[in-house]
Amino acid sequence: MTSECFVYIALPGETEFVTAGRYRRDFDRHGVAIGRFVYGKSYLARNDAVPLDPAELKLSSRTYETRLLNGVFGVLRDASPDYWGRRVIERHFGSPGPDELDYLLYSPDDRAGALGFGTGAEPPAAKRKFNRTIDLQKLQDFADAIIAGKELPDEADAQQAQELMLEGTSMGGARPKAVVEDDDGLWIAKFNRPDDKWNHAKVERAMLVLAQTCGIHAAESRLATIGDRDALLVKRFDRHKIDKGYQRARMLSALTLLRAEDAHTDREKWSYVLLVEELRRISAQPKVDAPELFKRMCFNALISNTDDHPRNHAVIAMDKNWRLSPAYDLTPSMPVSIERRDLALACGDMGRYAHADNLLSQSARFLVPTDEAKQVIDKMEQTIKNQWYETARREGVSEKDCETIGGAFAYEGFRLAVEEAKAS
Ligand SMILES: Nc1ncnc2c1ncn2[C@@H]1O[C@H](COP(=O)(O)OP(=O)(O)O)[C@@H](O)[C@H]1O
Ligand SMILES: [Mg+2]
Repeated sequence: MTSECFVYIALPGETEFVTAGRYRRDFDRHGVAIGRFVYGKSYLARNDAVPLDPAELKLSSRTYETRLLNGVFGVLRDASPDYWGRRVIERHFGSPGPDELDYLLYSPDDRAGALGFGTGAEPPAAKRKFNRTIDLQKLQDFADAIIAGKELPDEADAQQAQELMLEGTSMGGARPKAVVEDDDGLWIAKFNRPDDKWNHAKVERAMLVLAQTCGIHAAESRLATIGDRDALLVKRFDRHKIDKGYQRARMLSALTLLRAEDAHTDREKWSYVLLVEELRRISAQPKVDAPELFKRMCFNALISNTDDHPRNHAVIAMDKNWRLSPAYDLTPSMPVSIERRDLALACGDMGRYAHADNLLSQSARFLVPTDEAKQVIDKMEQTIKNQWYETARREGVSEKDCETIGGAFAYEGFRLAVEEAKAS
């Protein structure tokens, strides 16, 4: 079992990796995993060195240790594949199955953020292995086969699609996806699943557009059609194409900023109110980013995006400065209750309750005074009420799908008198 690897980083503005340090994962005699990270001496000697995580792994010659997160430092967890990517790696790994370090080492070099991993003290030369011709149809078929647990057809095309899919597995998230390249740069292709209750690609595209209409800085996106199927392409904001390759932004998820576990047992740390405190500390422009996070929290409440968990927020650093990333993964959900919906993160004094008063209760921490916060909420509520349908239809969401998701927008409970809501 692999227990040690080197951690590489693409420094701000650079397209090639340098070695930043060494990561090791061992088990104590109780079987508890311990992760250790140490920066390399030559890395610390560079005057352009940047920390992997400015809070948990500051530039220093000490050996960092963690027993949290199964011995995986938050920034490394952010760089390792999530549910979907892990599934694809497991499929190819065989018995006894990959361990945490294997997920880092066997995932391709297109992971979110600026880090790379390998067993050599020197980073391998950067390879540009993305396919320039996007064959989404083959990728979609391959994704369907994995979901259905079917054998993949044994032919050259399937093989190519399989490899492409494998190349696309470092990105996190649960939906099937691949990273594809075109002349503009890199995109995340998010595929529909056969068991989806509505056309997710089109609806997510509509939500990204609606967010922009509400003044939110959302990731650039477009739809691709493959026969009668759709995929959403989201432009990667952690890569910037220049002549000699891709510059990379460092990236930390909100899960890492909050020092939180993925598991529900760590739920008390899942909070916009706590997150904005961390954001104000790390951001180079807190006065812009904190109010922006406030808007996103309100938007999620108003579209019933109850999947707004801490992996769906991030900060990025293209240069030395950290900023809130563009918004991504915005999807309405269809909870049964029309009186009370809960976001994944606490958003005020009444916990996770997606309610106007709750959103207002801590607005000062988002650097938004109460009066202004009221206006933001009122205006956004009107925009969403008036424009969600039109936006969705314009992006090709069917009448039937609009009917299915209609109850998600500016739901009744958002303005329910609080006493009434408590009683119910
Ligand atoms: N536009 C983007 N640029 C860079 N990284 C992104 C972008 N969108 C998403 N990510 C990263 O990829 C992960 C998965 O994407 P996401 O849209 O959340 O997929 P899912 O719907 O499967 O959760 C995110 O958690 C984030 O780390
Ligand atoms: Mg997600």
